Amino acid sequence: MAIIGQDITEAARWLLSGDIVAIPTETVYGLAALADNLQAVHKVFEVKQRPFYDPLILHFHHTDAALFALQDPPNDVITLARHFWPGPLTIVAPKKNHIHDMITAGSHLVAVRVPQHPLTLALLEQLQQPVAAPSANPFGYVSPTSPEHVQVHLGKHIPYILDGGECRKGIESTIIGFHHQTPEIWRLGMITKEEIESVLGYRISESIQQNSNPKAPGQLLQHYSPSTPLKLVNQQQFKEMLKDMLHSAANRSHHSYHTIGLLCFGHVDQRLHHVVGGMENLSESSNPEEAARGLYKKLRSLDQLHLEKIYACEWPNVGLGRAINDRLIRSSAKK
Ligand code: TXA
Ligand code: MG
Repeated sequence: MAIIGQDITEAARWLLSGDIVAIPTETVYGLAALADNLQAVHKVFEVKQRPFYDPLILHFHHTDAALFALQDPPNDVITLARHFWPGPLTIVAPKKNHIHDMITAGSHLVAVRVPQHPLTLALLEQLQQPVAAPSANPFGYVSPTSPEHVQVHLGKHIPYILDGGECRKGIESTIIGFHHQTPEIWRLGMITKEEIESVLGYRISESIQQNSNPKAPGQLLQHYSPSTPLKLVNQQQFKEMLKDMLHSAANRSHHSYHTIGLLCFGHVDQRLHHVVGGMENLSESSNPEEAARGLYKKLRSLDQLHLEKIYACEWPNVGLGRAINDRLIRSSAKK
């Protein structure tokens, strides 16, 4: 199993010796390799069982260093970078030559960001070079937001997990790409479209594709998936479903819900805990930031109960709620 610790010198030592290490960020844990060490980058793909067509994000210590990896970044890139970094925004733009094809999956575009986590920033500063890091989960599974999540699935394959506690944000960075120099959103994430628009001063479009050939190649429809089948239900249907469950439980009907899990939010009748096999509340006050923070942890907890099905309630489709729904839609896509 991997050692879990807070020693950045130890993490740096493993990385410099060509190994890979899990690192905390504000969004999710990443599985890092030195960007210049192709054998280590290769190992990242292997350990995650990630296809080589799905490119990696480069993580930098400084905004200037991240911008330096880009070939003639448009002014909007510089504006967004200076405003949101360190923070959960990833920018995809034309790369300089020295960035290797394995990282970009052969594309002339590279994804860069400066994460906002003190331990990882200190590690990157010590290294004085960027790391390539996808989320530290097996390809397609729910992303990790704690060292334990990384340990469970990848601990056998990596020497060290840098322990930065639970991730403060909980959902991946928002990805911004460009269409003829005009920024557009390629992956919904922690930073909302409205926040980006207010910095740019104009409206932007989205190109969030849900098929097998998206612009952000890793954005396959089926993603972030627990092993237990998940069904996303709209708020009205969800409410009625819970009412029916309580009703038939009160009438001692033979209908059993013990193989059902619920992923809910807001005020929920606590008697349901005795009716269903498992229930997690993303936020009793329906706060999307709180929900984002706990989303992957709660999905993982429900998944561990080996239930037949998890029902999740759709969020109001505005602001961060849209990123939560995006993850729930992908979690519920058929394998
Ligand atoms: O919050 C995050 O972004 C986390 C933390 C660890 O930084 N990382 C993360 O990485 O979510 P990953 O590998 O799970 O997702 C990165 C996605 C890829 O799947 C792909 O869709 C997009 O970023 N991407 C990366 N490089 C790209 C490129 N050159 N062109 C287009 N899309 C790219
Ligand atoms: Mg991922």
